Amino acid sequence: MVYSDTVMDHFKNPRNVGEIKDADGTGNVGNPMCGDMMTITIEVKDNVISDIKFKTFGCAAAIATSSMITELVKGLTIEDALKITKDDIVENLGGLPPIKLHCSNLAADALKKAIDDYREKLNK
Ligand code: FES
Repeated sequence: MVYSDTVMDHFKNPRNVGEIKDADGTGNVGNPMCGDMMTITIEVKDNVISDIKFKTFGCAAAIATSSMITELVKGLTIEDALKITKDDIVENLGGLPPIKLHCSNLAADALKKAIDDYREKLNK
């Protein structure tokens, strides 16, 4: 399987790994196709994602897509962050092998869940 240089870079040197303590939003997802798991935590200040971290137990593509989404959405408003699609993630990684495209769902879904969690907490 051939990964782009960008995928390999994010796999070997993942950005924003970890978990934000007392996060404003948390998103947990699992991929039913392979059993891989991902958690994204966000910190939100003035409607902007001021910090974001991820923990991924999964394949190289899952780790690279998690790392890339953290870079893409940090500093964006909640509304703009929600506009980031799995296709945006894949494009910024220089593509993924077709058999690995499903892995990009995890990152997009985990971010959406973290934002949903943030919004639910706001409305409590
Ligand atoms: Fe499980 Fe990639 S094979 S997310």
